[in-house]
Amino acid sequence: MTSRFLVTAEIPEPGLSILREAGETTVLPELPSPERLTELLASGDYDAVITQMADKVTPDTLKDAQVKGISNYAVGFNNIDVEAATARGIGVSNTPGVLSDATADIAFLLLLSVARRLREADELVRSGQFKGTGPMFMLGHDVTGQTLGLAGFGRIARAMARRALGFGMKVVFSPRPPLEREVSDEELGEFAGRVEQKPWDEIVETADYISLHVPLTDDTKHLIDADALSRMKKTAILVNTARGPVVDEAALVEALNTGEIAGAGLDVYEAEPALADGLAEAPNTVLLPHIGSATEQTRSTMAEMVARDAIAMARGEKPENPVNPEVFGG
Ligand code: GLV
Repeated sequence: MTSRFLVTAEIPEPGLSILREAGETTVLPELPSPERLTELLASGDYDAVITQMADKVTPDTLKDAQVKGISNYAVGFNNIDVEAATARGIGVSNTPGVLSDATADIAFLLLLSVARRLREADELVRSGQFKGTGPMFMLGHDVTGQTLGLAGFGRIARAMARRALGFGMKVVFSPRPPLEREVSDEELGEFAGRVEQKPWDEIVETADYISLHVPLTDDTKHLIDADALSRMKKTAILVNTARGPVVDEAALVEALNTGEIAGAGLDVYEAEPALADGLAEAPNTVLLPHIGSATEQTRSTMAEMVARDAIAMARGEKPENPVNPEVFGG
C-alpha cells in the first residue's frame, strides 16, 4: 500500500520530490492551528507527518492520532511531547548534525555584530550621520584574547568553539548546565587541551561572551534569569541561537537597560515570533528572525533527511535520526 504523508509547511527540494515519489503527499498552504493539526493526525489519512518547530505537538494533539511517525524539520524537538508520542507508539525523528555549521555561523555572526556594534554603525552611515572617524568613535569590544563561555558542548557548541578558537578566543564550557557532568578528554576529541570545562556558575561570572547551545528542557528554561544576568560581567555579551525560553527575556531587557550586561545577540525568542516588551528598543542588541539553519544547502539537506525518515516511519521502519528509538525496538 502506498504511503501517505502530511507536510505542514512547504519544505525545499529534494524533500518534496522524495516524498512524492514514495507516496501521496499533502502540503498544507499554511501551518495548521493546533485544533486542525489534532484533526489531521486523527483522520487516519496520513502515515507520517513532517512538522515544523512552530507546530506544537502536545499530548492533546496526539490523543487520537493515527500516524506512525512525526519527522520534525529541526534538530530541536521541544515542540513535540516525545513521551506522549512514545506512549502511543508514534516515532519521532529530527535533523541533527547537518545544521551545526550554519547555526554556529549565525551565533558567531551575532557575537561579532554585538561586539563591534554593527547595527548601530550601519544605521549611522545610512542615515548620513557619519562625519568622519576618530579616536573615541564607535568603540566596541575585543574578541581575540577574550573568553567565550559555552552552555552545552554538543555539535553546535563544538562548531562555535572551532570558530572562536580560530579567532584566538579562550573557550570554556559547561556540558549540561545547570547540572554538572565531567567530560573526559576522549569525549572532547579534537578539543582536548584546547578548551576547558568549568563549573557553570564560574562561566556565568567570568566569561566575556556567553553563547547558549542547550536544548530547551525543564532544567534549561530560564537558565539565564535575572540572577544569572546580575552575576555576569558588566562588559559581557550574551548570544542565544538555541531556544528563546532558555533566557528570561523580560529580565534580559531589564539587564540591557540598566547596563548589567553590555549587549545581546538573539536568533530566538521566548514567545516567538513575539518579542518581550522593550526588547526591540533595548540598547546593544542584534535581533535575528530564527535563521540559524537558513542556508539553501542546509535547508535542502534537512528536507532530504525529514523526507527519508518520514518514509521509513510510514513503513514501520526505524528512521535514521530517531528521537525515541524505543518505538522501533531500541
Ligand atoms: C532550529 O532551531 C532547529 O532546531 O533546527
